[in-house]
Amino acid sequence: MSSGKYVEKVLIEAETIQKKIKELGDKISKDYAGEDLVLICVLKGAVVFLSDLMRSLDIPVEIDFMAVSSYGAATESSGVVRILKDLERSIEGRHCLIVEDIIDTGLTLKYMKEYLLSQLPASLKVVALLDKPQRRKVDIAPDYCGFKIPDEFVVGFGLDFNERFRSLPGVCVLGDKL
Ligand code: PRP
Repeated sequence: MSSGKYVEKVLIEAETIQKKIKELGDKISKDYAGEDLVLICVLKGAVVFLSDLMRSLDIPVEIDFMAVSSYGAATESSGVVRILKDLERSIEGRHCLIVEDIIDTGLTLKYMKEYLLSQLPASLKVVALLDKPQRRKVDIAPDYCGFKIPDEFVVGFGLDFNERFRSLPGVCVLGDKL
């Protein structure tokens, strides 16, 4: 099915993303050296980032997944989040790092942090590949950030439009087909 959209331009090249993930991996490996770390990936968009990030680390990690969906309009976060898939193992007493592809309004992350903190992890931080600070509705920021981007609709490297474009190797801006 046609999405009525096309890739207008590449905002962040695949090579630039890989270089940044290596830098993030080095920093996270140093910060968590000797610790027991769980990477918590928020499905689906973050799987591509998780996959590259975990291989850029030189410390042992476990991975776990959560799937959430926000109630309300499909294109806008409502802040009310429903858990579709929960973690498989307890995170009590563990060092946890939420892995997100993008922080937009911040509402999903706010909910995720509150939910996970209620399970008493030893620590909880956030790494996001992309951050759109202009769109923020709540005062929240990632502890580790790949790129701050302008308020444009982006796809690729895990991010979708109607489930399409996730497999693009770079982060791209979509345009409307004439
Ligand atoms: C994206 C992203 C975050 C959320 C950020 O997921 O992965 O979880 O939106 O938006 P917010 O800061 O405005 O809350 P999305 O709901 O698009 O699901 P997907 O990853 O399965 O595509």
